[in-house]
Amino acid sequence: MTSQEILEKYINFFIERGHKQIPNVSLVPEGDSTLLFVNSGMFPLVPYLSGEPHPLGKRLVNVQRSLRFEDLEEVGETIRHTVAFHMLGNWSLGDYFKEEQLPWIFEFFIDVLKLDPNKLFSTVFAGDEYAPRDQESIDILKMVYKKYGIDAQEGERIFPCGKKDNWWQRGDAVGELGGPDSEVYYYLGEGDGIGRSPAENPDEFLEIGNSVFMQYKKTEDGWVPLSQKNVDFGGGLERIAMVAQRRKDIFETDNFLPIVKKVEELSKRGYDSDFRTRKAMRVLSDHMRASCLLIMDSVAPGNKDQGYVLRRLIRRMVRVGKTLGIEKNLSVSLVDAVVEALGWLYPRLQEDSGRIKSVFDEEEDKFRKTLNRGSAYVEKVLSRLSEADMKKKSPADWAKISFDLFQSVGYPQETFLIDLEDRKIPLDVKEFQNEFQRIFDSHQEKSRSGAEVKFKGGLADHSDIVVRYHTATHLLQAALREVLGEHVGQLGSNITSERLRFDFSHHGRKMTDEEVVKVQEIVNSRIRSSLPVNFVVMSKNEAQNAGALYMKHESYPSEVKVYYIGKDLPSAVSKEMCGGPHVSNTNELGKFEIYKQESIGEGKLRLYARLI
Ligand code: ALA
Repeated sequence: MTSQEILEKYINFFIERGHKQIPNVSLVPEGDSTLLFVNSGMFPLVPYLSGEPHPLGKRLVNVQRSLRFEDLEEVGETIRHTVAFHMLGNWSLGDYFKEEQLPWIFEFFIDVLKLDPNKLFSTVFAGDEYAPRDQESIDILKMVYKKYGIDAQEGERIFPCGKKDNWWQRGDAVGELGGPDSEVYYYLGEGDGIGRSPAENPDEFLEIGNSVFMQYKKTEDGWVPLSQKNVDFGGGLERIAMVAQRRKDIFETDNFLPIVKKVEELSKRGYDSDFRTRKAMRVLSDHMRASCLLIMDSVAPGNKDQGYVLRRLIRRMVRVGKTLGIEKNLSVSLVDAVVEALGWLYPRLQEDSGRIKSVFDEEEDKFRKTLNRGSAYVEKVLSRLSEADMKKKSPADWAKISFDLFQSVGYPQETFLIDLEDRKIPLDVKEFQNEFQRIFDSHQEKSRSGAEVKFKGGLADHSDIVVRYHTATHLLQAALREVLGEHVGQLGSNITSERLRFDFSHHGRKMTDEEVVKVQEIVNSRIRSSLPVNFVVMSKNEAQNAGALYMKHESYPSEVKVYYIGKDLPSAVSKEMCGGPHVSNTNELGKFEIYKQESIGEGKLRLYARLI
């Protein structure tokens, strides 16, 4: 039975019981800043579970793409952990309750999916100071099991457990909803499982469904009963597929198999060859699904929020791919396999696959370059140290090395930490991170005060990459004036280690594609020509007479630095009054690319460009 069939059967089962299907929404929560990602099907239903009437009625059903990062470290280690998954959900908004929900879920698992009832086990809430023991569910479950010929006893097949296991709430803020729950487990062990509590033997059981009896709301004074009693059921499609498809491992279900197979092909290794390989393939297939869904939902790799998480996922894949010997085009080569695994549910994945590939391509390529530049340096530093030396280094020593790497080539701190881990160098990570932050802050402080005494237009951050962007900005301004005309004047600029942004005056229209290409070509040809970059100090007047550019609305000291790009000042392709610093030769820049332009008001354009 395919995952598609399982889903169709589930939705139909509940439609036949009076439910209406609601949409599978974006992973990026709409209008909710308390969550970074949608992590369950109940996410969009909070107001309705609280009592607001839902336009489609009191019985709802759906499948929802979800991300959870709590178990990130487990992904790859086990047969069942993933970051991305699909939650089958059904809800009663103050309509039916335990008497219907519990028998229905068993009917679906046993009569529809044909799971062996002897393999099913249950947990229920044992009660605590806030809410009573869920005796009702125990009694109902006993009847349900009996229907399938099973004498289910407490402590044998039905296990009352504490809040940790059988209470569900989405978050801990005031306003969150929660309640006791009853979980269904599938026994994976060799014996009959009788008497083995799923809570105490987690590796022997797979949780395949959870009926939350959501009837409490968190207030300043603790949990108080809601005016209506709800059911919130969630079951992981991929896990259900694992047992329905009689697989021993979630990554062998149709949800992951095409991706695993493609990784096998790229790495020329078998999934079963050894644990390390299997682990890597699991991580790749999970992270690929998560990343594709994120990009489909319009997340772009970046430095904060969802974009940062996506970037981390891609970087992790690149590193994990390396352990399988895959050194290029990893993510881009796996997109079609994700479409094969999930395209039936998301036709948009196929339609968007070109765009998704280019996001991966660019991000992966950028990271590989950083990694390769940094790796050579890491190698150099580490190969000089004996094993005894390495052991002697303190977290602060490593933080200093890591900061130098970050500053010179933008090598990420977390990547360096993994390098150390790979080499089995023991380290107090917290101390390392604190020290890194301390160096980072004091450096920021220094460059800020440095910048104040410097000439206007200097850089606050002197890391190599930022300095390269600074020089590229000068080349860009010169090229813009050549292509668009002398009216182009700098209004502002902003540089990060990822890109440059340049604001300039230009009459009322955007640049055409041809103009953009021309500007890019001019900049790149100057990079290829290996032009030297130098400065002279002269009076402001002299500088203006020499044709040095400056910003109209900025004030400059009477003595200024003029940076020029070219063999001498008269023949220079660019001259600007500027505090620096700059690279010493344009050949240090790499390839220049304009990737975005926007209009920022009457007669003003903004360009974004990067070095790749
Ligand atoms: N919302 C419940 C869960 O996530 C069903 O397990």
